[in-house]
Amino acid sequence: MPPPPPPPEPFFPGTFLRPLCPRPALAREGGKMAAPSSAPLPCPEPGAAPYGNFPNYSRFHPPEARVSLLPDGLLRRLFPAAARPLLGLDVGCNSGELSVALYRHLLGLQDKSSLEQPAAGKDLHLLCCDIDAALIERARQSSPFPASISFANLDIMDSASREPFLSSYLGRFGRSTFDIGFCMSVTMWIHLHHGDSGLREFLAFLSSLCEYLLIEPQPWKCYRAAARRLRKLGRNDFDHFRSLAINGDMAERITQILTKDCAMELVCCFGSTSWDRSLLLFKSNGSNQEGREPSGS
Ligand SMILES: C[S@@+](CC[C@H](N)C(=O)[O-])C[C@H]1O[C@@H](n2cnc3c(N)ncnc32)[C@H](O)[C@@H]1O
Repeated sequence: MPPPPPPPEPFFPGTFLRPLCPRPALAREGGKMAAPSSAPLPCPEPGAAPYGNFPNYSRFHPPEARVSLLPDGLLRRLFPAAARPLLGLDVGCNSGELSVALYRHLLGLQDKSSLEQPAAGKDLHLLCCDIDAALIERARQSSPFPASISFANLDIMDSASREPFLSSYLGRFGRSTFDIGFCMSVTMWIHLHHGDSGLREFLAFLSSLCEYLLIEPQPWKCYRAAARRLRKLGRNDFDHFRSLAINGDMAERITQILTKDCAMELVCCFGSTSWDRSLLLFKSNGSNQEGREPSGS
Protein backbone atom coordinates (compact mmCIF):
# COMPACT_ATOMS: atom_id res chain seq x y z
CA MET A 1 0.00 0.00 0.00
CA PRO A 2 1.50 3.37 -0.93
CA PRO A 3 1.49 5.93 1.87
CA PRO A 4 -1.47 8.32 1.99
CA PRO A 5 -0.99 11.76 0.46
CA PRO A 6 0.40 14.40 2.81
CA PRO A 7 -2.12 16.58 4.62
CA PRO A 8 -2.90 19.94 3.05
CA GLU A 9 -0.93 22.97 4.06
CA PRO A 10 -2.56 24.86 6.91
CA PHE A 11 -4.63 27.78 5.80
CA PHE A 12 -3.14 31.15 6.71
CA PRO A 13 -4.71 33.94 4.68
CA GLY A 14 -2.13 36.42 3.56
CA THR A 15 0.72 33.95 3.82
CA PHE A 16 2.70 33.06 0.73
CA LEU A 17 3.62 29.42 0.64
CA ARG A 18 6.59 28.03 -1.23
CA PRO A 19 6.89 25.53 -2.75
CA LEU A 20 3.35 25.87 -3.96
CA CYS A 21 2.08 22.49 -2.82
CA PRO A 22 3.41 19.21 -1.55
CA ARG A 23 3.42 16.66 -4.32
CA PRO A 24 0.98 13.82 -3.72
CA ALA A 25 2.24 10.32 -3.13
CA LEU A 26 -0.48 8.80 -5.29
CA ALA A 27 -0.05 10.72 -8.53
CA ARG A 28 -1.31 8.77 -11.52
CA GLU A 29 1.35 7.30 -13.70
CA GLY A 30 2.38 9.80 -16.35
CA GLY A 31 -0.17 12.24 -14.98
CA LYS A 32 -2.75 11.01 -17.46
CA MET A 33 -6.26 12.17 -16.82
CA ALA A 34 -8.15 8.94 -16.48
CA ALA A 35 -9.87 8.61 -19.82
CA PRO A 36 -13.63 8.25 -19.79
CA SER A 37 -13.20 4.86 -21.43
CA SER A 38 -11.85 3.61 -18.07
CA ALA A 39 -14.77 5.09 -16.13
CA PRO A 40 -17.45 2.77 -14.78
CA LEU A 41 -20.05 3.96 -17.28
CA PRO A 42 -19.63 3.73 -21.03
CA CYS A 43 -18.83 7.11 -22.53
CA PRO A 44 -17.35 8.54 -25.71
CA GLU A 45 -13.68 8.60 -26.60
CA PRO A 46 -11.81 11.47 -24.95
CA GLY A 47 -11.12 12.91 -28.37
CA ALA A 48 -14.82 13.60 -28.58
CA ALA A 49 -14.46 15.89 -25.57
CA PRO A 50 -12.06 18.43 -27.07
CA TYR A 51 -12.76 21.05 -24.40
CA GLY A 52 -12.49 18.65 -21.50
CA ASN A 53 -16.26 18.30 -21.68
CA PHE A 54 -16.16 14.69 -20.54
CA PRO A 55 -19.65 13.44 -19.80
CA ASN A 56 -18.66 11.56 -16.64
CA TYR A 57 -15.80 13.69 -15.42
CA SER A 58 -16.77 13.57 -11.77
CA ARG A 59 -16.66 9.76 -11.81
CA PHE A 60 -12.93 9.74 -12.37
CA HIS A 61 -12.04 13.01 -10.63
CA PRO A 62 -14.43 12.98 -7.68
CA PRO A 63 -15.51 16.37 -6.32
CA GLU A 64 -15.11 15.14 -2.73
CA ALA A 65 -11.39 14.67 -3.27
CA ARG A 66 -11.14 18.37 -4.09
CA VAL A 67 -13.56 19.95 -1.64
CA SER A 68 -12.16 17.92 1.24
CA LEU A 69 -8.90 19.86 0.81
CA LEU A 70 -10.72 23.09 1.63
CA PRO A 71 -10.93 23.95 5.32
CA ASP A 72 -14.27 24.13 7.06
CA GLY A 73 -15.51 27.65 7.57
CA LEU A 74 -13.55 28.99 4.61
CA LEU A 75 -16.17 31.56 3.63
CA ARG A 76 -16.39 32.88 7.17
CA ARG A 77 -12.63 33.32 7.24
CA LEU A 78 -12.46 34.99 3.86
CA PHE A 79 -15.49 37.21 4.38
CA PRO A 80 -15.83 37.75 8.12
CA ALA A 81 -17.98 40.85 7.79
CA ALA A 82 -20.12 39.98 4.78
CA ALA A 83 -23.76 40.78 5.39
CA ARG A 84 -24.78 40.63 1.74
CA PRO A 85 -25.23 37.42 -0.23
CA LEU A 86 -21.88 36.07 -1.38
CA LEU A 87 -21.56 35.54 -5.11
CA GLY A 88 -19.45 32.82 -6.71
CA LEU A 89 -18.59 32.07 -10.33
CA ASP A 90 -17.69 28.51 -11.34
CA VAL A 91 -16.07 28.50 -14.78
CA GLY A 92 -16.17 25.21 -16.69
CA CYS A 93 -18.62 23.53 -14.35
CA ASN A 94 -19.20 20.45 -16.54
CA SER A 95 -22.40 18.73 -15.33
CA GLY A 96 -22.33 20.53 -12.01
CA GLU A 97 -21.22 17.85 -9.57
CA LEU A 98 -18.25 19.84 -8.32
CA SER A 99 -20.31 23.06 -8.19
CA VAL A 100 -22.88 21.39 -5.95
CA ALA A 101 -20.16 19.80 -3.82
CA LEU A 102 -18.47 23.20 -3.43
CA TYR A 103 -21.76 24.80 -2.48
CA ARG A 104 -22.44 22.12 0.12
CA HIS A 105 -18.94 22.27 1.51
CA LEU A 106 -18.75 26.05 1.69
CA LEU A 107 -22.08 26.22 3.51
CA GLY A 108 -21.40 23.26 5.76
CA LEU A 109 -24.08 21.08 4.18
CA GLN A 110 -21.89 18.01 3.69
CA ASP A 111 -24.35 15.77 5.46
CA LYS A 112 -26.61 14.95 2.54
CA SER A 113 -29.28 13.53 4.85
CA SER A 114 -29.72 16.91 6.53
CA LEU A 115 -32.35 19.34 5.31
CA GLU A 116 -31.20 20.80 2.01
CA GLN A 117 -31.20 24.34 3.33
CA PRO A 118 -28.14 26.49 3.88
CA ALA A 119 -27.31 27.15 7.49
CA ALA A 120 -28.95 30.26 8.90
CA GLY A 121 -27.17 33.51 8.22
CA LYS A 122 -25.27 32.23 5.19
CA ASP A 123 -26.25 33.18 1.72
CA LEU A 124 -24.27 32.05 -1.29
CA HIS A 125 -25.27 32.22 -4.92
CA LEU A 126 -23.26 30.41 -7.55
CA LEU A 127 -23.28 31.11 -11.26
CA CYS A 128 -21.83 28.09 -13.03
CA CYS A 129 -21.05 28.10 -16.73
CA ASP A 130 -19.81 25.66 -19.30
CA ILE A 131 -19.23 25.71 -23.04
CA ASP A 132 -21.14 22.43 -23.45
CA ALA A 133 -24.92 22.92 -23.58
CA ALA A 134 -25.73 19.24 -22.96
CA LEU A 135 -23.69 19.20 -19.76
CA ILE A 136 -25.44 22.35 -18.58
CA GLU A 137 -28.82 20.81 -19.25
CA ARG A 138 -27.86 17.78 -17.13
CA ALA A 139 -26.58 20.07 -14.38
CA ARG A 140 -29.88 21.97 -14.34
CA GLN A 141 -31.97 18.85 -14.20
CA SER A 142 -30.08 17.33 -11.31
CA SER A 143 -29.40 20.43 -9.23
CA PRO A 144 -30.62 20.14 -5.64
CA PHE A 145 -30.30 23.93 -5.18
CA PRO A 146 -31.98 25.56 -8.19
CA ALA A 147 -32.71 28.74 -6.26
CA SER A 148 -29.06 29.31 -5.35
CA ILE A 149 -27.06 27.67 -8.12
CA SER A 150 -27.61 28.86 -11.68
CA PHE A 151 -26.21 26.95 -14.63
CA ALA A 152 -25.53 28.68 -17.92
CA ASN A 153 -24.23 27.63 -21.29
CA LEU A 154 -21.44 30.11 -21.95
CA ASP A 155 -18.07 30.12 -23.69
CA ILE A 156 -16.11 32.14 -21.16
CA MET A 157 -13.66 33.15 -23.91
CA ASP A 158 -16.41 34.74 -25.97
CA SER A 159 -16.19 38.28 -24.68
CA ALA A 160 -19.18 39.48 -26.71
CA SER A 161 -21.44 37.02 -24.87
CA ARG A 162 -19.86 36.88 -21.47
CA GLU A 163 -19.82 40.61 -20.73
CA PRO A 164 -23.56 41.25 -20.98
CA PHE A 165 -24.41 37.89 -19.46
CA LEU A 166 -22.20 38.22 -16.39
CA SER A 167 -23.07 41.88 -15.92
CA SER A 168 -26.74 41.04 -16.03
CA TYR A 169 -26.33 38.29 -13.41
CA LEU A 170 -24.29 40.54 -11.13
CA GLY A 171 -26.70 43.40 -11.67
CA ARG A 172 -29.52 41.35 -10.14
CA PHE A 173 -27.59 41.64 -6.89
CA GLY A 174 -26.52 45.21 -7.41
CA ARG A 175 -22.93 44.08 -7.89
CA SER A 176 -20.21 44.36 -10.50
CA THR A 177 -17.87 41.60 -9.29
CA PHE A 178 -17.97 38.14 -7.75
CA ASP A 179 -16.69 37.44 -4.26
CA ILE A 180 -15.03 34.23 -5.34
CA GLY A 181 -14.32 32.45 -8.60
CA PHE A 182 -13.64 28.75 -9.14
CA CYS A 183 -11.55 27.56 -12.03
CA MET A 184 -11.12 23.87 -11.53
CA SER A 185 -9.29 21.83 -14.16
CA VAL A 186 -10.10 24.32 -16.89
CA THR A 187 -6.90 26.30 -17.54
CA MET A 188 -5.37 23.60 -19.77
CA TRP A 189 -8.37 23.56 -22.10
CA ILE A 190 -8.34 27.35 -22.41
CA HIS A 191 -4.59 27.26 -23.00
CA LEU A 192 -4.73 24.50 -25.64
CA HIS A 193 -7.51 26.25 -27.57
CA HIS A 194 -6.49 29.88 -27.17
CA GLY A 195 -2.72 29.74 -26.72
CA ASP A 196 -0.52 31.71 -24.35
CA SER A 197 -2.29 34.98 -25.02
CA GLY A 198 -5.65 33.34 -24.42
CA LEU A 199 -4.54 31.94 -21.09
CA ARG A 200 -3.21 35.34 -20.03
CA GLU A 201 -6.38 37.07 -21.12
CA PHE A 202 -8.50 34.47 -19.31
CA LEU A 203 -6.58 34.91 -16.06
CA ALA A 204 -6.70 38.70 -16.38
CA PHE A 205 -10.42 38.54 -16.95
CA LEU A 206 -11.06 36.29 -13.94
CA SER A 207 -8.88 38.41 -11.70
CA SER A 208 -10.74 41.54 -12.76
CA LEU A 209 -14.02 39.87 -11.94
CA CYS A 210 -13.37 38.00 -8.68
CA GLU A 211 -12.04 39.11 -5.33
CA TYR A 212 -10.82 35.59 -4.56
CA LEU A 213 -9.94 32.96 -7.11
CA LEU A 214 -9.57 29.25 -6.43
CA ILE A 215 -7.66 27.56 -9.23
CA GLU A 216 -6.81 23.94 -9.88
CA PRO A 217 -4.39 24.07 -12.82
CA GLN A 218 -3.64 20.95 -14.82
CA PRO A 219 0.06 20.11 -14.74
CA TRP A 220 2.03 20.04 -17.98
CA LYS A 221 2.00 16.26 -18.19
CA CYS A 222 -1.77 16.47 -18.68
CA TYR A 223 -1.20 18.60 -21.78
CA ARG A 224 1.04 15.93 -23.22
CA ALA A 225 -1.48 13.23 -22.33
CA ALA A 226 -4.32 15.20 -23.94
CA ALA A 227 -2.29 15.73 -27.13
CA ARG A 228 -1.30 12.05 -27.16
CA ARG A 229 -4.94 11.01 -26.89
CA LEU A 230 -5.83 13.16 -29.88
CA ARG A 231 -3.00 11.72 -31.94
CA LYS A 232 -4.06 8.18 -31.07
CA LEU A 233 -7.48 9.02 -32.47
CA GLY A 234 -5.83 10.20 -35.67
CA ARG A 235 -6.84 13.80 -35.09
CA ASN A 236 -4.75 16.92 -35.50
CA ASP A 237 -2.93 18.35 -32.51
CA PHE A 238 -4.54 21.14 -30.55
CA ASP A 239 -3.91 24.32 -32.50
CA HIS A 240 -1.49 25.78 -30.00
CA PHE A 241 0.08 22.79 -28.26
CA ARG A 242 3.50 22.89 -29.94
CA SER A 243 3.92 26.64 -29.70
CA LEU A 244 3.07 27.20 -26.06
CA ALA A 245 5.85 29.17 -24.39
CA ILE A 246 4.05 29.01 -21.07
CA ASN A 247 4.83 25.46 -20.06
CA GLY A 248 6.56 23.37 -17.42
CA ASP A 249 5.39 23.90 -13.85
CA MET A 250 1.93 25.18 -14.67
CA ALA A 251 0.93 25.95 -11.08
CA GLU A 252 4.03 28.11 -10.79
CA ARG A 253 3.54 29.75 -14.19
CA ILE A 254 -0.09 30.58 -13.49
CA THR A 255 0.88 31.93 -10.10
CA GLN A 256 3.47 34.18 -11.77
CA ILE A 257 0.93 35.52 -14.24
CA LEU A 258 -1.68 36.19 -11.58
CA THR A 259 0.72 37.81 -9.14
CA LYS A 260 2.87 39.80 -11.59
CA ASP A 261 0.35 40.78 -14.27
CA CYS A 262 -3.06 40.52 -12.66
CA ALA A 263 -2.66 42.25 -9.30
CA MET A 264 -3.43 39.13 -7.29
CA GLU A 265 -1.57 37.56 -4.42
CA LEU A 266 -1.25 33.91 -3.58
CA VAL A 267 -3.08 33.38 -0.30
CA CYS A 268 -2.34 29.72 0.10
CA CYS A 269 -2.19 26.28 -1.41
CA PHE A 270 -4.68 23.86 0.06
CA GLY A 271 -2.64 20.86 -1.01
CA SER A 272 -2.78 18.56 -4.00
CA THR A 273 -5.20 15.93 -5.14
CA SER A 274 -4.08 12.33 -5.46
CA TRP A 275 -3.90 12.97 -9.22
CA ASP A 276 -1.34 15.72 -8.70
CA ARG A 277 -3.30 18.94 -9.03
CA SER A 278 -2.80 21.81 -6.62
CA LEU A 279 -5.62 23.90 -5.25
CA LEU A 280 -4.42 27.50 -5.15
CA LEU A 281 -6.27 30.41 -3.61
CA PHE A 282 -5.53 33.94 -4.83
CA LYS A 283 -6.82 37.28 -3.65
CA SER A 284 -7.13 40.48 -5.59
CA ASN A 285 -4.85 43.29 -4.48
CA GLY A 286 -7.42 45.81 -5.69
CA SER A 287 -8.18 48.23 -2.91
CA ASN A 288 -11.83 48.37 -3.90
CA GLN A 289 -12.67 45.16 -5.72
CA GLU A 290 -16.38 45.92 -5.85
CA GLY A 291 -15.61 49.12 -7.67
CA ARG A 292 -13.56 47.38 -10.34
CA GLU A 293 -15.25 46.68 -13.61
CA PRO A 294 -14.71 43.44 -15.51
CA SER A 295 -12.00 43.94 -18.11
CA GLY A 296 -13.41 44.24 -21.58
CA SER A 297 -10.50 42.40 -23.19
C1 LIG B 1 -12.04 18.88 -17.12
S1 LIG B 1 -13.62 19.62 -16.98
C2 LIG B 1 -13.62 20.22 -15.32
C3 LIG B 1 -15.02 20.22 -14.72
C4 LIG B 1 -15.14 20.75 -13.30
N1 LIG B 1 -14.67 22.12 -13.20
C5 LIG B 1 -14.37 19.89 -12.35
O1 LIG B 1 -13.22 20.22 -12.02
O2 LIG B 1 -14.90 18.86 -11.93
C6 LIG B 1 -13.36 21.12 -17.89
C7 LIG B 1 -14.67 21.80 -18.23
O3 LIG B 1 -14.37 23.09 -18.78
C8 LIG B 1 -15.30 23.35 -19.80
N2 LIG B 1 -14.75 24.38 -20.69
C9 LIG B 1 -13.65 24.29 -21.48
N3 LIG B 1 -13.47 25.42 -22.17
C10 LIG B 1 -14.48 26.27 -21.78
C11 LIG B 1 -14.84 27.60 -22.15
N4 LIG B 1 -14.15 28.28 -23.06
N5 LIG B 1 -15.92 28.15 -21.55
C12 LIG B 1 -16.64 27.46 -20.63
N6 LIG B 1 -16.35 26.20 -20.27
C13 LIG B 1 -15.28 25.60 -20.83
C14 LIG B 1 -15.49 21.99 -20.47
O4 LIG B 1 -16.67 21.91 -21.23
C15 LIG B 1 -15.47 21.05 -19.27
O5 LIG B 1 -16.76 20.76 -18.81
